[in-house]
This record gives sequence, structure tokens and C-alpha cells, in this order.
Amino acid sequence: MTSLRSAEWFDRDDELGLQNRAVLRVVGWDPDLARGKPIIGIANSWSELNNCNLGLRAIADAVKRGVIAAGGVPLEFNTISLGEELMKPSAMLYRNLMAMELEETLRAYPIDGVVLLCGCDKTTPAQLMGAASANLPAIQLNAGPKATGRWRGQEVGSGTSLWKYWDEYRAGRIGDEDWRALEAAYAGGAGTCNTMGTASTMAAISEALGMMLPGASSIEAHPLRGQAASRRIAVAEATGRQIVELVRRDIRPRQIMTRAAFENALRVHAAIGGSTNAVIHLIAIAGRLRMPLALDDFDALSRATPTLLNLQPSGDRLMPDFDAAGGLPALMNEIRDLLHLDALTVTGRSLGENIAGAANRDPNVIRPRAHPLQADGALAVLRGNLAPRGAILRTTTASPHLQQHRGPALVFEDYADLLARIDSPDLPVTPETVLVLRNAGAVGVPGLPEWGSIPIPKKLLAQGVRDVVRISDSRMSGTSYGTVVLHVAPESAVGGPLALVRDGDLIELDVPARSLNVLVDEDELARRRAVWRPPGSPHRRGYPRLYQQHVLQPDEGCDFDFLRPQSDEELAFVPPVVGRS
Ligand code: FES
Repeated sequence: MTSLRSAEWFDRDDELGLQNRAVLRVVGWDPDLARGKPIIGIANSWSELNNCNLGLRAIADAVKRGVIAAGGVPLEFNTISLGEELMKPSAMLYRNLMAMELEETLRAYPIDGVVLLCGCDKTTPAQLMGAASANLPAIQLNAGPKATGRWRGQEVGSGTSLWKYWDEYRAGRIGDEDWRALEAAYAGGAGTCNTMGTASTMAAISEALGMMLPGASSIEAHPLRGQAASRRIAVAEATGRQIVELVRRDIRPRQIMTRAAFENALRVHAAIGGSTNAVIHLIAIAGRLRMPLALDDFDALSRATPTLLNLQPSGDRLMPDFDAAGGLPALMNEIRDLLHLDALTVTGRSLGENIAGAANRDPNVIRPRAHPLQADGALAVLRGNLAPRGAILRTTTASPHLQQHRGPALVFEDYADLLARIDSPDLPVTPETVLVLRNAGAVGVPGLPEWGSIPIPKKLLAQGVRDVVRISDSRMSGTSYGTVVLHVAPESAVGGPLALVRDGDLIELDVPARSLNVLVDEDELARRRAVWRPPGSPHRRGYPRLYQQHVLQPDEGCDFDFLRPQSDEELAFVPPVVGRS
């Protein structure tokens, strides 16, 4: 083992050594017992404000047992927790804050390696971004998907079922009593969404990147009954043992999260019908590593990878089915010829070794290559005069008849305008209308909330319409569906072309051609651009102000400009540990 970083704090003969060892005694470790052992931080995003991560408190205890068994000293610390459902205007606003907090905590304390306990959507990428920047040995472990509730005899898929039943409720097809009963079934229990939303997607991507133990991402959450809970406890103990091994071998995130690992993650994203949010997160993580990763990489690998996973919202099954079918190792084994099998992982072995022999136990869930859910991947990157720096759409959840569509725009100036008018009986909308929402991006709100899956207007619901083309500079929940174009860049609040669209302009979407255009001539757009003024912001201070001043656009991952290293020297810089506090 190389010399431990924590020795700078504890193995010294001066007054600081005494002071630091006294701290160890207070937190429960005799310095003589801890001497020479790696200090393993356990970064826990457990919080009672975040139902998805609630099981992580018990998981941390299991990780500690594993660390101690392997000869390490576990020290648990809390981080901020980003709960998608309660946090407003959007957990995405705080992803960069959580990443910064983790990076700085790892740097500032005597930590030799870290276990990253994540769960709800943004907690996973935030930890990977922070770990990439700090570059201490790290393993991630997620909370796991929650138990599945049943309503009217049907399994309830997180998010996906809610959006569907909400439309039915608004259309008058679900009564108040049933609507209230849905609430109890929807709760499920502690754990993340049981669909292929962003949490499931990012956990799978962490595993595909090599940052999580094989098979861990899909195991059901703790606390639960029986086999599933005990398997999550077991993988938590294994994670605790393995982080000590990673410190001993000095294997760090930058050796694992290589370009090959990112390409594996993009392939997996396509094959699982992953959340659109993952595109932003993967680019952000890569940016921390000075790794070139562009929207076009997603499109190219998505075109060349089949969608195999039959899971909501792309398919009809849920995460427990995926886990029972063999989870990510089985899925990756189906596409092993498309993967970089020699990529190093946190097991200390290659990806190919990790997935060798992983059996697909349910071909209805993990479709074999000969019978994919869709012949190509789930993601399309669109460009055109409406999105010069790109926009994205999940093809597996878009209506086939709308993927080549031309229709008149109906523009909502912002989210308040949308809420005020969307269900008006006078709304001038038809099934051909293209709904446009602007000023809903990273700078505009700020924080890029999940407003992009614009509700279908009541007027259309009453006609039996369940999907229309929707376009915004916003995001949508990974659990959502529909012909929804997202992340239009540059966003309207910084002068992107979405700001210039007017009611009645014809918009043309052509997914096979990967194009998105407003059919207005350039001279007219130039006239509109000349009189456009940026919307003001009420934020004069604090984190939202910092965010608006420094956030990058979605094609650059919405990280802060000052968090992406601009040179190899910046990437390699490690602040020294010196002197008194
Ligand atoms: Fe937390 Fe879906 S709301 S994982």
C-alpha cells in the first residue's frame, strides 16, 4: 500500500498530531487500533427530507461492518440530500452544490477512500462529479428501487403511472375516491423510483462506468422484507470491504472513468432506454475529467445499440423484474460485443470479467438481441435552426406518428403562463399543434426543472388525444413519456432561437433526420432577434445568483464553468495539507 493520506493528520509528533488523535478518540477509535489503517469516509445522503434515500442509514452500518472486516476505519458523514419530489424549484439546481460539497469535504478531511451512498436522481451524478474531481479511491452504492404498490389490481410504476392517471383524472375518467387510494399505493416505501427514471438510469450508469459493484444497482431497497433486503445488506458489506482493497491498491476514479468506460455507459444508456437527464449528467462528469464527450457521441452510439430492456416508461415492466432477470450484468452480457470489456472497475477486475457468465433469466424483461424492444437505442439528438447546439428526445417513449411532424406553434412564455392557460377551454390547440415552453432552462429559472413534459391540454384529453409534440429548454422526469423535445440549446433566456418563436410559426420535427426547425426565414428571425431582450432575474444574491452566472448549457452538462478544469495541470492539482486550522 502507498503511504496513507490520513497519515498527514495522525502520524505526526507535534501538537497537531496529538490534537487530531484526540479527535479520533472522541469519535470512537483508539489511535493505536487505527494506526496504519485507511480512513474510509462514508458519504451518506440519507435524509428525512428525501424518501428515496431513507434506507441508506441502515446501509451505512453494513458498509461500516465491511470496512472494519477488511481492516479499515469507517467514518460516516452526511451530505446534503437532493430529494426530487420535495425540493423546489428543482433538485437539479443543487446538483452542482452537492458535488462541490462532497469534493471539498473529501479534500479537507483525512480521508483515504470513500463510499458514496446515493439514491434519488441527482445524488448519483453529484457524487460522481465530486469524486471525479477529488480523485480519491471511491465506490458508489445506491439506495435501490422501492417496493411496488398495487392499485386497481395493477402495479404502480413510479412517475409513469402517476402521469398517466393524472391525465385520466383530468379527463374525468378517475373519481376522487380512486384518486386518493392511488396515493397510498403510490408511496411504495423507502427507495428510488421503480421505473427506468433518472435514479435507476444513473445507478445503472454508475455500474456501467465501473464505479459500483456488479449487480448492485437493481437490488431492491432497504428496509424491506426478506431476500431483497438481505441482498442489499450483503452488497453494502461487500462495498465496505472492497473500498479498503481499492485504497490498498491505490485505484482511483480517473483510472476507472476512462473514455472506454464512458462509451460503455452510453451503450448501456441506449440499451436500457435510459432517462434523458443522464445525458446532461454524463457530460458533466466527463467535463470534470477533461474528457471530450459530446451530444453527437450519444447519438452515434444510440443508433448502433439496440434497446433491450422492457421497463417502464419504454416498456411495461418494473425494476424488481429487471433485478430478477439478472440486472445489469445480464443486460451487459447481451451486448458484450459492443462494450469495452477490458475497462477497469471497482472490483479491481475488468468489466468483461465482472459480467462473464451473467445469465439472462427472463427474456421478456431483458430482450435477446434477436428480439429487441427497438432496433436502435432510445435517444435521438436533434439539431436545426431551433436548436443550434442540440436538443434531445427519447424515441422509445415518443409516439411513432409524431416523430415526423409539422405543426403550428403555441408558445407559453414561461411556466406560470403554461399553468394559467393549459386547461383553458379557449386554448387554440389541435392535435397538430406544437406546444412550446420557453424560459424554463438552466439560467432562466434557474435550475432547469422537469417542466418539459407539458401536460396535454384538457381540451385535447377530452377528444381522446394523449400525445402532441412538445418542445422546451427544460428537462423532463426520466419516468415521463411522449413526443417531448428537451434541453433545447442555447436556452431562450440567453437568447437561443426558442426565444424568437411566435404563435402560429410552423415547426418541423424529423426524428429520423435528427432535425428540428422553425420554418421562418432568416431575415424575419433576425428582425425578431434585434428586438429581443433577456428576461430579468429576481435573484440578486446567494446560490441561485452564483448558479445563473456560472452554469453551462445542457450540451456542456450544466456544470459550473469554474468546476471544469481548463488544463491538465488544473486537473492534476492537489491542494497541500499544512499546519493549524
Ligand atoms: Fe427519488 Fe424518483 S423521486 S428516485
